[in-house]
Amino acid sequence: MDRRSFIKSTGVASLGMGLNINKTFSASKQRPSNPIVVATWDVKNATKKAWEILNSQGSSLDAIEEGCKVEEANKDGQSVGIGGLPDREGDVTLDACIMDYKGNCGSVVYLKNVKHAISVARMVMEKTPHVMIAGDGAKKFALAMGFKEENLLTEKSKKDWIKWKENEKYQPIINIENHDTIGMLAIDKNNNISGGCTTSGLAYKMQGRVGDSPIIGAGLFIDNEIGGAVATGLGEEVIKTVGSFFVVELMRQGYSPKDACKFAIERIVKKPESNYKNFQVGYIAVNKNGETGSYSIQKGFSMTQYDIRGNKTLDSPYYNKMG
Ligand code: GLY
Repeated sequence: MDRRSFIKSTGVASLGMGLNINKTFSASKQRPSNPIVVATWDVKNATKKAWEILNSQGSSLDAIEEGCKVEEANKDGQSVGIGGLPDREGDVTLDACIMDYKGNCGSVVYLKNVKHAISVARMVMEKTPHVMIAGDGAKKFALAMGFKEENLLTEKSKKDWIKWKENEKYQPIINIENHDTIGMLAIDKNNNISGGCTTSGLAYKMQGRVGDSPIIGAGLFIDNEIGGAVATGLGEEVIKTVGSFFVVELMRQGYSPKDACKFAIERIVKKPESNYKNFQVGYIAVNKNGETGSYSIQKGFSMTQYDIRGNKTLDSPYYNKMG
Protein backbone atom coordinates (compact mmCIF):
# COMPACT_ATOMS: atom_id res chain seq x y z
CA MET A 1 0.00 0.00 0.00
CA ASP A 2 1.46 3.36 -0.95
CA ARG A 3 1.54 6.26 1.48
CA ARG A 4 -1.41 8.04 -0.09
CA SER A 5 -3.65 4.94 0.07
CA PHE A 6 -2.51 4.37 3.63
CA ILE A 7 -3.49 7.89 4.65
CA LYS A 8 -6.87 7.52 3.00
CA SER A 9 -7.69 4.03 4.28
CA THR A 10 -6.69 4.72 7.86
CA GLY A 11 -8.22 8.16 7.95
CA VAL A 12 -5.08 9.63 9.48
CA ALA A 13 -5.37 12.60 7.19
CA SER A 14 -8.71 13.56 8.66
CA LEU A 15 -7.46 13.07 12.20
CA GLY A 16 -4.55 15.35 11.54
CA MET A 17 -2.09 12.65 12.61
CA GLY A 18 0.95 11.36 10.84
CA LEU A 19 1.07 14.31 8.48
CA ASN A 20 4.24 15.73 7.12
CA ILE A 21 3.56 19.43 7.05
CA ASN A 22 6.94 20.15 5.49
CA LYS A 23 6.40 17.74 2.68
CA THR A 24 6.77 19.05 -0.82
CA PHE A 25 4.91 17.49 -3.70
CA SER A 26 6.12 13.94 -4.20
CA ALA A 27 5.03 13.51 -7.78
CA SER A 28 7.23 14.31 -10.71
CA LYS A 29 8.58 17.83 -10.57
CA GLN A 30 9.48 18.19 -14.20
CA ARG A 31 8.07 21.26 -15.84
CA PRO A 32 4.70 20.86 -17.41
CA SER A 33 5.30 20.94 -21.13
CA ASN A 34 2.74 23.69 -21.42
CA PRO A 35 1.12 26.31 -19.25
CA ILE A 36 -2.43 26.12 -17.96
CA VAL A 37 -5.06 28.43 -16.53
CA VAL A 38 -8.24 27.50 -14.69
CA ALA A 39 -11.02 29.76 -13.44
CA THR A 40 -14.24 29.44 -11.53
CA TRP A 41 -17.41 29.46 -13.67
CA ASP A 42 -17.86 29.87 -17.42
CA VAL A 43 -15.47 32.73 -18.11
CA LYS A 44 -13.83 31.81 -21.41
CA ASN A 45 -12.97 35.41 -22.29
CA ALA A 46 -11.03 35.71 -19.04
CA THR A 47 -9.14 32.42 -19.49
CA LYS A 48 -8.45 33.32 -23.13
CA LYS A 49 -6.78 36.56 -22.06
CA ALA A 50 -4.75 34.75 -19.40
CA TRP A 51 -3.74 32.03 -21.87
CA GLU A 52 -2.49 34.56 -24.43
CA ILE A 53 -0.11 35.92 -21.79
CA LEU A 54 1.02 32.48 -20.64
CA ASN A 55 1.51 31.29 -24.19
CA SER A 56 3.77 34.22 -25.05
CA GLN A 57 6.18 33.58 -22.16
CA GLY A 58 4.29 35.89 -19.77
CA SER A 59 4.29 35.25 -16.04
CA SER A 60 1.47 33.51 -14.21
CA LEU A 61 1.06 36.68 -12.14
CA ASP A 62 0.47 38.86 -15.21
CA ALA A 63 -1.89 36.23 -16.62
CA ILE A 64 -3.94 36.22 -13.41
CA GLU A 65 -4.21 39.99 -13.24
CA GLU A 66 -5.15 40.45 -16.88
CA GLY A 67 -7.55 37.49 -16.87
CA CYS A 68 -9.41 38.74 -13.80
CA LYS A 69 -9.58 42.25 -15.27
CA VAL A 70 -11.64 40.93 -18.19
CA GLU A 71 -14.48 40.01 -15.84
CA GLU A 72 -14.06 43.13 -13.69
CA ALA A 73 -14.60 45.25 -16.80
CA ASN A 74 -17.62 43.23 -17.95
CA LYS A 75 -20.67 45.32 -17.05
CA ASP A 76 -22.99 42.35 -17.58
CA GLY A 77 -21.37 40.29 -14.81
CA GLN A 78 -23.24 41.18 -11.63
CA SER A 79 -20.86 39.63 -9.14
CA VAL A 80 -17.52 41.20 -10.05
CA GLY A 81 -16.17 44.69 -10.74
CA ILE A 82 -18.34 47.21 -12.58
CA GLY A 83 -21.96 46.07 -12.66
CA GLY A 84 -21.59 44.11 -9.42
CA LEU A 85 -24.72 43.98 -7.27
CA PRO A 86 -24.52 46.45 -4.38
CA ASP A 87 -24.92 46.07 -0.63
CA ARG A 88 -28.21 46.89 1.11
CA GLU A 89 -27.47 50.60 0.96
CA GLY A 90 -26.84 50.55 -2.79
CA ASP A 91 -23.03 50.74 -2.59
CA VAL A 92 -20.95 48.44 -4.80
CA THR A 93 -17.93 47.33 -2.77
CA LEU A 94 -15.21 45.05 -4.10
CA ASP A 95 -12.94 42.48 -2.45
CA ALA A 96 -9.94 40.89 -4.18
CA CYS A 97 -6.64 39.21 -3.52
CA ILE A 98 -3.65 37.94 -5.45
CA MET A 99 -0.79 35.61 -4.54
CA ASP A 100 2.40 34.83 -6.44
CA TYR A 101 4.73 31.86 -6.67
CA LYS A 102 7.10 33.35 -4.08
CA GLY A 103 4.36 33.37 -1.46
CA ASN A 104 3.84 37.14 -1.69
CA CYS A 105 0.28 38.34 -1.48
CA GLY A 106 -1.88 41.44 -1.52
CA SER A 107 -5.51 42.16 -0.92
CA VAL A 108 -8.12 44.90 -0.96
CA VAL A 109 -11.29 44.91 1.07
CA TYR A 110 -14.42 47.00 0.71
CA LEU A 111 -13.03 49.00 -2.21
CA LYS A 112 -15.45 51.53 -3.70
CA ASN A 113 -15.52 53.23 -7.11
CA VAL A 114 -12.46 51.52 -8.60
CA LYS A 115 -13.30 48.56 -10.82
CA HIS A 116 -9.95 46.77 -11.09
CA ALA A 117 -9.72 45.49 -7.53
CA ILE A 118 -7.31 42.73 -8.62
CA SER A 119 -4.80 45.32 -9.84
CA VAL A 120 -5.11 47.32 -6.63
CA ALA A 121 -4.47 44.08 -4.69
CA ARG A 122 -1.34 43.53 -6.79
CA MET A 123 -0.18 47.07 -6.01
CA VAL A 124 -0.71 46.42 -2.30
CA MET A 125 1.54 43.36 -2.69
CA GLU A 126 4.20 45.09 -4.74
CA LYS A 127 4.24 48.69 -3.51
CA THR A 128 3.46 48.51 0.21
CA PRO A 129 4.86 46.62 3.20
CA HIS A 130 1.31 45.34 3.90
CA VAL A 131 -0.89 42.48 2.75
CA MET A 132 -4.38 43.92 3.17
CA ILE A 133 -5.82 47.43 2.82
CA ALA A 134 -9.50 48.18 3.44
CA GLY A 135 -12.21 50.76 2.90
CA ASP A 136 -11.36 54.44 2.53
CA GLY A 137 -7.67 53.63 2.81
CA ALA A 138 -7.93 51.18 -0.09
CA LYS A 139 -9.63 53.76 -2.29
CA LYS A 140 -7.15 56.47 -1.32
CA PHE A 141 -4.27 54.13 -2.11
CA ALA A 142 -5.82 53.15 -5.47
CA LEU A 143 -6.31 56.76 -6.52
CA ALA A 144 -2.76 57.62 -5.46
CA MET A 145 -1.57 54.75 -7.68
CA GLY A 146 -3.39 56.32 -10.63
CA PHE A 147 -6.55 54.20 -10.80
CA LYS A 148 -9.63 55.87 -12.22
CA GLU A 149 -12.59 56.65 -9.98
CA GLU A 150 -15.93 55.64 -11.51
CA ASN A 151 -19.47 54.74 -10.60
CA LEU A 152 -19.70 50.93 -10.45
CA LEU A 153 -23.49 50.73 -10.04
CA THR A 154 -24.89 50.13 -13.52
CA GLU A 155 -28.51 50.91 -14.41
CA LYS A 156 -29.34 47.20 -14.44
CA SER A 157 -27.83 46.52 -11.02
CA LYS A 158 -29.53 49.64 -9.65
CA LYS A 159 -32.87 48.45 -11.00
CA ASP A 160 -32.37 44.99 -9.47
CA TRP A 161 -31.43 46.56 -6.12
CA ILE A 162 -34.54 48.78 -6.12
CA LYS A 163 -36.65 45.72 -6.85
CA TRP A 164 -34.93 43.78 -4.06
CA LYS A 165 -35.73 46.63 -1.66
CA GLU A 166 -39.46 45.98 -2.14
CA ASN A 167 -39.12 42.90 0.10
CA GLU A 168 -35.58 43.20 1.44
CA LYS A 169 -35.42 39.43 1.68
CA TYR A 170 -31.89 38.55 2.60
CA GLN A 171 -30.91 35.14 1.41
CA PRO A 172 -27.81 33.86 -0.34
CA ILE A 173 -28.80 33.01 -3.90
CA ILE A 174 -27.40 29.73 -5.15
CA ASN A 175 -25.43 30.08 -8.40
CA ILE A 176 -26.39 33.71 -8.77
CA GLU A 177 -26.48 34.66 -12.44
CA ASN A 178 -24.36 31.71 -13.39
CA HIS A 179 -21.31 32.90 -11.65
CA ASP A 180 -20.09 34.47 -8.47
CA THR A 181 -16.54 35.21 -7.40
CA ILE A 182 -14.04 34.86 -10.23
CA GLY A 183 -11.09 32.88 -8.99
CA MET A 184 -8.17 32.02 -11.26
CA LEU A 185 -5.06 29.83 -10.99
CA ALA A 186 -2.27 29.71 -13.56
CA ILE A 187 1.00 27.90 -14.20
CA ASP A 188 3.42 29.60 -16.57
CA LYS A 189 6.17 28.22 -18.80
CA ASN A 190 8.65 28.55 -15.92
CA ASN A 191 6.42 26.23 -13.90
CA ASN A 192 5.46 28.99 -11.47
CA ILE A 193 1.97 29.14 -10.01
CA SER A 194 0.02 32.30 -9.15
CA GLY A 195 -3.62 32.92 -8.31
CA GLY A 196 -6.19 35.61 -7.75
CA CYS A 197 -9.83 36.21 -6.98
CA THR A 198 -12.14 39.18 -7.32
CA THR A 199 -15.75 39.81 -6.33
CA SER A 200 -18.42 42.29 -5.36
CA GLY A 201 -19.38 39.79 -2.68
CA LEU A 202 -22.78 38.63 -1.65
CA ALA A 203 -25.60 40.60 -3.28
CA TYR A 204 -27.34 42.96 -0.84
CA LYS A 205 -24.91 42.13 1.95
CA MET A 206 -24.90 44.15 5.16
CA GLN A 207 -22.85 47.29 4.86
CA GLY A 208 -19.26 46.48 5.79
CA ARG A 209 -19.63 42.72 5.29
CA VAL A 210 -16.49 41.05 3.98
CA GLY A 211 -16.40 37.56 2.48
CA ASP A 212 -13.65 35.05 1.86
CA SER A 213 -12.29 36.48 -1.38
CA PRO A 214 -9.77 38.98 0.02
CA ILE A 215 -8.65 36.63 2.79
CA ILE A 216 -5.51 34.67 1.99
CA GLY A 217 -6.01 31.04 2.98
CA ALA A 218 -9.82 31.28 2.78
CA GLY A 219 -10.59 32.57 -0.72
CA LEU A 220 -7.21 31.74 -2.24
CA PHE A 221 -3.97 29.98 -1.44
CA ILE A 222 -0.86 29.21 -3.48
CA ASP A 223 2.15 27.12 -2.55
CA ASN A 224 4.48 26.94 -5.51
CA GLU A 225 5.84 23.57 -4.36
CA ILE A 226 2.38 22.02 -4.21
CA GLY A 227 -0.32 23.88 -6.14
CA GLY A 228 -3.11 26.38 -5.65
CA ALA A 229 -6.79 26.57 -4.80
CA VAL A 230 -9.49 29.21 -4.99
CA ALA A 231 -13.08 29.39 -3.75
CA THR A 232 -16.43 30.74 -4.86
CA GLY A 233 -19.81 30.83 -3.19
CA LEU A 234 -20.88 31.72 0.33
CA GLY A 235 -17.77 33.28 1.82
CA GLU A 236 -18.74 32.83 5.45
CA GLU A 237 -18.60 29.05 5.07
CA VAL A 238 -15.25 29.19 3.29
CA ILE A 239 -13.74 31.41 6.00
CA LYS A 240 -14.96 29.10 8.78
CA THR A 241 -13.05 26.19 7.25
CA VAL A 242 -10.05 28.15 5.86
CA GLY A 243 -10.99 26.40 2.65
CA SER A 244 -8.32 27.17 0.05
CA PHE A 245 -5.43 26.60 2.43
CA PHE A 246 -7.05 23.31 3.42
CA VAL A 247 -7.29 22.19 -0.23
CA VAL A 248 -3.59 22.93 -0.81
CA GLU A 249 -2.60 21.11 2.38
CA LEU A 250 -4.62 18.09 1.27
CA MET A 251 -2.75 18.09 -2.03
CA ARG A 252 0.49 18.21 -0.04
CA GLN A 253 -0.64 14.96 1.59
CA GLY A 254 -1.10 13.36 -1.81
CA TYR A 255 -4.75 13.99 -2.64
CA SER A 256 -5.58 14.80 -6.25
CA PRO A 257 -6.93 18.31 -6.88
CA LYS A 258 -10.45 16.94 -7.28
CA ASP A 259 -10.32 14.83 -4.12
CA ALA A 260 -8.81 17.70 -2.15
CA CYS A 261 -11.67 19.99 -3.26
CA LYS A 262 -14.19 17.27 -2.39
CA PHE A 263 -12.75 16.77 1.07
CA ALA A 264 -12.86 20.53 1.73
CA ILE A 265 -16.51 20.66 0.62
CA GLU A 266 -17.31 17.72 2.92
CA ARG A 267 -15.69 19.62 5.78
CA ILE A 268 -18.43 22.24 5.28
CA VAL A 269 -21.43 20.00 4.68
CA LYS A 270 -20.65 17.56 7.48
CA LYS A 271 -20.50 20.20 10.19
CA PRO A 272 -23.12 19.69 12.90
CA GLU A 273 -26.45 21.18 11.81
CA SER A 274 -25.05 22.38 8.51
CA ASN A 275 -27.74 23.93 6.31
CA TYR A 276 -25.68 23.23 3.20
CA LYS A 277 -28.79 22.64 1.07
CA ASN A 278 -29.37 26.38 1.11
CA PHE A 279 -26.08 27.67 -0.21
CA GLN A 280 -23.34 27.04 -2.73
CA VAL A 281 -19.59 26.75 -2.25
CA GLY A 282 -17.21 25.58 -4.96
CA TYR A 283 -13.46 25.05 -5.12
CA ILE A 284 -11.08 24.64 -8.02
CA ALA A 285 -7.47 23.50 -7.66
CA VAL A 286 -4.34 22.80 -9.66
CA ASN A 287 -1.25 20.89 -8.57
CA LYS A 288 2.37 21.31 -9.55
CA ASN A 289 2.01 18.71 -12.30
CA GLY A 290 -0.74 20.72 -13.96
CA GLU A 291 -3.52 18.35 -12.87
CA THR A 292 -6.75 20.16 -12.09
CA GLY A 293 -10.02 19.47 -10.31
CA SER A 294 -13.10 21.06 -8.84
CA TYR A 295 -15.94 20.21 -6.51
CA SER A 296 -19.00 22.08 -5.22
CA ILE A 297 -21.90 21.57 -2.89
CA GLN A 298 -24.67 22.13 -5.44
CA LYS A 299 -25.14 21.31 -9.08
CA GLY A 300 -24.45 24.22 -11.43
CA PHE A 301 -20.86 25.08 -10.66
CA SER A 302 -18.30 24.93 -13.46
CA MET A 303 -14.60 25.44 -14.11
CA THR A 304 -13.09 26.88 -17.27
CA GLN A 305 -9.72 25.48 -18.28
CA TYR A 306 -7.43 26.73 -21.04
CA ASP A 307 -4.48 24.50 -21.91
CA ILE A 308 -2.91 23.24 -25.13
CA ARG A 309 -6.15 21.40 -25.91
CA GLY A 310 -8.14 24.63 -25.95
CA ASN A 311 -10.56 26.62 -23.83
CA LYS A 312 -13.26 24.49 -22.21
CA THR A 313 -15.85 24.91 -19.49
CA LEU A 314 -16.35 21.72 -17.50
CA ASP A 315 -19.28 20.96 -15.21
CA SER A 316 -18.09 20.40 -11.67
CA PRO A 317 -18.88 17.25 -9.69
CA TYR A 318 -21.01 18.10 -6.66
CA TYR A 319 -22.14 16.81 -3.28
CA ASN A 320 -25.89 17.42 -3.06
CA LYS A 321 -27.37 14.82 -5.41
CA MET A 322 -30.83 15.22 -3.88
CA GLY A 323 -31.16 18.78 -5.25
N1 GLY B 1 -17.28 34.37 -2.27
C1 GLY B 1 -17.62 35.72 -2.27
C2 GLY B 1 -18.18 36.22 -1.03
O1 GLY B 1 -18.77 35.47 -0.25
O2 GLY B 1 -18.10 37.41 -0.81
